[in-house]
Order: sequence, then structure tokens, then C-alpha cells
Amino acid sequence: MSTLPSTQKAVALPAKRTPLIEITTPVEPPAAGEIVVRVQWTASSPLDLHRSDGGLLIPSYPALQGSGGAAGTVVAVGTGGDLKGLQIGDQVSAFAFHGGKEANQQEYITIPAYLASKIPQGLSLQAAVTVPVNLVTVFHSVTADLELELPWPIPQDWQPKEASKPILVWGASSSVGIFAIQVLRHWRYTKVLAVSSGKHHEYLKSLGATICFDYTKGDVVDNILDYVKDAKEPKVPYILDCIGSLHGTLEPLTRIAQRGSRVAVMLPVIIKDATEEDEPEYEMDVSKCLPEKWADGAIVRGVRTHFYLQNEFFKDRLQPEILPALLAQGIIKPNKQRVVEGATLVERAQNALSLLRSKAVSGEKLVYRVSEA
Ligand SMILES: NC(=O)c1ccc[n+]([C@@H]2O[C@H](COP(=O)([O-])OP(=O)(O)OC[C@H]3O[C@@H](n4cnc5c(N)ncnc54)[C@H](OP(=O)(O)O)[C@@H]3O)[C@@H](O)[C@H]2O)c1
Repeated sequence: MSTLPSTQKAVALPAKRTPLIEITTPVEPPAAGEIVVRVQWTASSPLDLHRSDGGLLIPSYPALQGSGGAAGTVVAVGTGGDLKGLQIGDQVSAFAFHGGKEANQQEYITIPAYLASKIPQGLSLQAAVTVPVNLVTVFHSVTADLELELPWPIPQDWQPKEASKPILVWGASSSVGIFAIQVLRHWRYTKVLAVSSGKHHEYLKSLGATICFDYTKGDVVDNILDYVKDAKEPKVPYILDCIGSLHGTLEPLTRIAQRGSRVAVMLPVIIKDATEEDEPEYEMDVSKCLPEKWADGAIVRGVRTHFYLQNEFFKDRLQPEILPALLAQGIIKPNKQRVVEGATLVERAQNALSLLRSKAVSGEKLVYRVSEA
């Protein structure tokens, strides 16, 4: 085992809606089955903003930041346990979300090996860091909430039972949506309806979307309903809401979902967006959102990917095996990246929050350096 420093720099939030600060945290030596990763790149996810401005999922302050993924080099491994074949020197990405020693915006993270993916040769850390959080989100929400099959490995000649049923991906140009389109098409779902602003339609079609609709146009719901008018009810049996905005997505979706439709909504539901002036409002209980508007018998589920480890198969294989294979074979392409600059790690993290708050992110993932090496 290489020698680890005893302490490191980390980004922390002192209190809700206050500027980020740098603090010193211990570098935790790895227990059996754990690895230590020297983090070189991290990605920013909207959850960083939900936490910093809304206090979401923060038990106490100062709170270590970083929920968008990490990529770097394995610098230590525990003695014994299942290390998933990882060794010192391997480059890995990680969706590690338990905070503390796993918090992504610090120089070293100590994590169970099953939360890491070896990065295939030829793929940069900067690109790889865009993948784990939202690719895992798609596997979890499609299987646990939409209850669609994603077998691994895909048996030869396998076709999903629901292969030709419409699956609506609303928010398809989001990071989650871009992975959803790729996963659904690779698993042979053939009618994937994508909703995004018009400028992303060609790209989404190139990834496998069957047809695209523009949510910035007032007639988007009518156009979708017209497209499925000859389908059996429920006309759109599967809906993945990759945004979870009360007025921006749930409201239009209440006009599309019918008895028997399954709707998986990314939590939190955003009642009011974060702005420079105002605190955001979130709702984690989707049953409290527009209950009077959903059709009787529509099944509306709130997605919580932090529970994906309850699926033992995914715990064992999703990050260690499935994710690297999909990237190595070119089946899944990483998100486009926007590199966030800043003189220090805290400054880069703060700049990323500002970009999220001003809704500057469109069809891309914010990424930035954690260490300079
Ligand atoms: N609960 C969970 O397990 C879980 C897991 C992952 C993510 N999430 C949540 O899911 C949300 C999305 O995450 P992300 O990282 O994918 O976000 P993101 O990439 O940062 O989202 C930006 C995209 O949202 C699109 N968008 C905004 N409002 C829209 C609307 N009303 N209709 C359609 N598209 C809209 C924009 O589309 P255009 O550019 O085309 O306008 C833009 O491309 C976040 O709130 C996040 O916290 C939850």
C-alpha cells in the first residue's frame, strides 16, 4: 500500500445558502473491500444545488460537498474483502453518495470497491466522470420504478415484452435523459419518445430516440397525444420524468398519463427553483404533488437512486462490471462536458453552483478538477 497523507482539503457548506469553504478532513485508510481514490475530476449535479440552497439531505453542518461523481486513481486498497479486481494505479470513476469519507469534492475518497468502475482505455477521466451517477440512476429508475427489464448480459434473441410500447422520456437532454435514451434503445425498446428543447433533437435521434417533441412549444402535449392516438390505452404506458418540476413536467404529464401508466419522477419535485434571491422549495413525497390532477389508476413513483444497492445484482455488478463494459464497447457515450474554471477547488465548486442556479446547463455535464496532478 502506498503511503497516504493523514489529512486533505475538502469543500464544505457551512450553512444553507452560504458560500462554500475549504476545510481539512482526515484521509481514511481502507478497510477490507475498500479502496482509496485520489480524486482528479468531479462532476456537479443538481443535487449539489438542492443541498446548498435547499438543505436537502443534509443532516448537519458544516456539510461535506460532492454528489455528482468522482474520477481518479486508486492509491490504496484494503486487505481482504472483495476488491472487484481493482488494484493500485487503476483509473476509476465512482458514484459514491454516503457523504463523509465518500464525499466527492475532496482530494481522497475511501469507498467500497463495488461503488467504483474501472475506466476503459482511451477514455479520459474528464469524460468518465460524467457517467456513473446518472447511468446508475437510469438502471435503477427503469427497473425499480418503471418495472421494465434490463437483463445483463442481454440474452441472444431476447426482446423485451414491452418492446414496441411507447416510453416517454421527458427531459431527454438532461444528463439522466441522455443516458435513458441510450440504455432503452440498447435493450431493444423501439418506441422511445424524447421531450427536450428543439436544439437537441438531432443529437437525441442520433442516440436512438424514435421521435422528439419540443417542450418549449405550447402544443407539446397535444403533439404527443396525436402521435399515440391509435395506441391501446394506456396510450403512453411508461413515462420517465428526468426533471421532476411541479409546473414544468408533472403538470403536462398529468394530461398524458392514464389508468395503468407508470410514471417515474426524479426526486426532489421542484416546487420553486433556487434563485440568487430566493430559497427553493422541494417535495420528496410525490403523492402530495397534484393528486387531484392525475388520472385514477396512474402509478406515480418518486425515484430515489440512493436505494439502488438494495438490488444485490446491481450492487455486485452495475458499477464494477456493467458500466465499464458499456463504455468500453461504445454502447454508452459519456455526456458532453463543460469544464468549470476557478483558481481553487472551492472557487470551481462555487462557480458550478452558480451555473446550476442560473439554469445554464443544457445537454452537458459540469466537470472540474479536484487536484491539479
Ligand atoms: N432522485 C434521484 O434518484 C435522482 C437521480 C439523478 C438526478 N435526479 C434529479 O433529476 C434532475 C435532473 O438531473 P440531471 O443531472 O439530469 O439534470 P441536468 O442535466 O442538469 O438538467 C438540465 C436539462 O434539463 C432540461 N429541462 C429543464 N426543464 C425542463 C422541462 N420543463 N422539460 C424538459 N426538459 C427540461 C434542459 O433541457 P433543454 O436544454 O433542452 O431546455 C437541460 O438540458 C435533478 O433535479 C436531479 O437532482 C434525481
